[in-house]
Amino acid sequence: MKNLIFIGAPGSGKGTQSKKLMEDKGFKHVSTGDLLRAEISKKSKLGLEIKGVMDEGKLVSDELVIKLLQANVDLKKYKYIFDGYPRNIAQAKTLDSAVLDKSEYLAIYFKVDTEKLVERLTNRRVTADGKHIYNLLTNPPKVAGKCDVTGEALIQRDDDKEEVIRKRMKVYEESIGPVLDFYSKKGSLKQISAEKSVDKVYTEILKFLA
Ligand code: AP5
Ligand code: MG
Repeated sequence: MKNLIFIGAPGSGKGTQSKKLMEDKGFKHVSTGDLLRAEISKKSKLGLEIKGVMDEGKLVSDELVIKLLQANVDLKKYKYIFDGYPRNIAQAKTLDSAVLDKSEYLAIYFKVDTEKLVERLTNRRVTADGKHIYNLLTNPPKVAGKCDVTGEALIQRDDDKEEVIRKRMKVYEESIGPVLDFYSKKGSLKQISAEKSVDKVYTEILKFLA
């Protein structure tokens, strides 16, 4: 099995599909967004700085994100899903040279109409660690406000306010084109229709793993 790189707009379903693949196929999941939120929850000076950037919908510095990523992957031991990294061409090149080295990978582009995403994201609720993801419209928890698995209270991410969502979309649209070209030229880019149901998107991804 190859490592997977998930590329897609905010709310395109990268975290949701990662969770299914971890459970069914044994991938490790590394989400730079989750790693950054974990740093924020420590309430350190660095965490506060990161929070300021994320609440504005901007990208955190490449130097910081790569350090976090490298500290959290062991490619000799596991196959990974890289979720939310790379987000610009500099990160794509760094991932290739400084993280993946010669490990095989497939980049999967979650294509979706961005207008649908605001509704998905304003209705998203998650556990504090981001590991369990719900949606008030399409995938609500059995008991309102509580995680089905852990029972803990569900929260809304600070960057899931409509004005921040729109800024995140803009940053994504401005930076992702060269990343897609990079993987396309290497012949390692696959595209899925991420507008379909969670199960249908999952089936599309599984076809690429066969
Ligand atoms: P990050 O946490 O990575 O957020 P994102 O890329 O904006 O993506 P999301 O997590 O919002 O969406 P998702 O695609 O995971 O969708 P999900 O599965 O949850 O990054 C946040 C911030 O951190 C960035 O803005 C930046 O500041 C910083 N950052 C992170 N990485 C960085 C990097 N590399 N460099 C610099 N800065 C970085 O699904 C969304 C909702 O839709 C859920 O409610 C779900 O239930 C629902 N849903 C999912 N799939 C479907 C479906 N098929 N049909 C219907 N509903 C669905
Ligand atoms: Mg996510």
